[in-house]
Amino acid sequence: MSVMNAPEREQFEYIEKCRGLIGEWSRKKGRNICYCVVTFGCQMNARDSEKLKGILEETGCVSAPEDEADILLFNTCTVRDNADRKVYGRLGTLKEVKNSRPDMVIGVCGCMTQEKTAAEKIKKTCPHVDIIFGTHNVHTLAKLLYRHLSEHTLTVDIWDEAREVAEALPVRRKYPFKSGVNISFGCNNFCTYCIVPYVRGRERSRSAADILTEVKRLSEEGVVEIMLLGQNVNSYGQDLPDDGQKMSFHELIRAVADTEGIERVRFMTSHPKDMSDELIDAIAAHPKICNHVHLPLQSGSSRLLKDMNRRYDKERYLELVGKLREKIPDVAITTDIIVGYPGETDEDNEETLDVIRKACFDNAFTFQYSKRTGTPAAAREDQIPREVVTRRFNEVLSLVQEMSRKRAALWEGKTLPVLVEEVNEKEEGFVTGRLENNMSVHFKGDASLIGSFVNVVLTECKGFYYIGEMK
Ligand code: SAH
Ligand code: SF4
Ligand code: F3S
Repeated sequence: MSVMNAPEREQFEYIEKCRGLIGEWSRKKGRNICYCVVTFGCQMNARDSEKLKGILEETGCVSAPEDEADILLFNTCTVRDNADRKVYGRLGTLKEVKNSRPDMVIGVCGCMTQEKTAAEKIKKTCPHVDIIFGTHNVHTLAKLLYRHLSEHTLTVDIWDEAREVAEALPVRRKYPFKSGVNISFGCNNFCTYCIVPYVRGRERSRSAADILTEVKRLSEEGVVEIMLLGQNVNSYGQDLPDDGQKMSFHELIRAVADTEGIERVRFMTSHPKDMSDELIDAIAAHPKICNHVHLPLQSGSSRLLKDMNRRYDKERYLELVGKLREKIPDVAITTDIIVGYPGETDEDNEETLDVIRKACFDNAFTFQYSKRTGTPAAAREDQIPREVVTRRFNEVLSLVQEMSRKRAALWEGKTLPVLVEEVNEKEEGFVTGRLENNMSVHFKGDASLIGSFVNVVLTECKGFYYIGEMK
């Protein structure tokens, strides 16, 4: 690991200071101090939560379920309003809990808090919240916790932009055998409906050297699967200085896949406008790069795509899908679709249905358009009535399901390698793993298999997952 920078040293000092206070608190209680981090939203947030947990463990806290936590953090998402509502709902129910356990510490962080009015709203409606911070200062948790524990006041610290980099801090991974690795933060695309660029800031790529060092270290720790994370992985590196070390995404992913010990590499998310032929070739050629591309469509209507500022049209999207399927015959293509974007007509929706049929997606996440304050689309007057959105949404959803069942059926009866992830909680004596194409498989097995690759016959396709038998 490289030498620590000043922000990293500062945080380690605060971790030490917290350790003292947590130790005192623990002696008073006669037991360990417990923490829980509740995560909403995407893989980026999941990765941030692993960093938050890493810091909390280092201060001497131990992981516990939500209802036993002395320190409870909500790492929030604000991409759609239902994500916001979920958080306020959960916070509301904590009011009484906090009344009965006044020494409990409740924190709110993540994308929701970066919205201009959010901190005020939380302060007003949830006075039982103790710490509020944002996406750009996740690494300062120990400092904020120390301030709160020593001063017992509401601690609010939200940064408008990324001011410092602190990567050499502890991380507590959910799975010992797989890990996300951030390759870039933020987004420059400003799709008109989307709040992410406002809450995550401008796109910043990490240096290839830092990424590869992290991958190597993870591999030494036993990680076999890496998920490269960015809002638009295909534009990785474009903001880096031309110092001879700069790599584009297809070069980076090959280098990650070549790292000793790494067996699978995934990536998320690919923006269609920046998907290069070189990347398609890399996926086709490299056995360790998974044959799965998540390629958000958003809409099949070229008119709406233009309006959304997506910078590709229906034809370009279908051309990409054609290339992927031609060069990587067993590729799984998944997507995101928004229904009910302002001004959407039935004809636009027909175009979306047409792309779903032609692309034959392996899976698709379909969302009803949600108005996000501050985005250009939210100010539009031609918002679509709820009942029209619901009707179109149901049409899209049922076609998506039909297509993904069709795709999934193709693998039935085949024997494929599965990385075993966990014991199946619903079905006793079963474990769950993933295929290269990201689909889940449930089959008989025990905890000793977790983290290893086994060959499994896919005996029964259940639409979105398989039941299998280990060979
Ligand atoms: N960077 C990724 C997407 C991140 S957000 C990309 O561009 O592909 C994940 C998904 O949420 C988006 O793909 C989009 O389908 C959906 N989404 C974003 N803003 C939304 C909104 N205002 N209403 C409904 N869905 C939205
Ligand atoms: Fe949002 Fe578009 Fe950026 Fe994705 S690319 S995060 S949809 S603005
Ligand atoms: Fe949500 Fe933030 Fe991810 S808004 S989708 S958690 S980047």
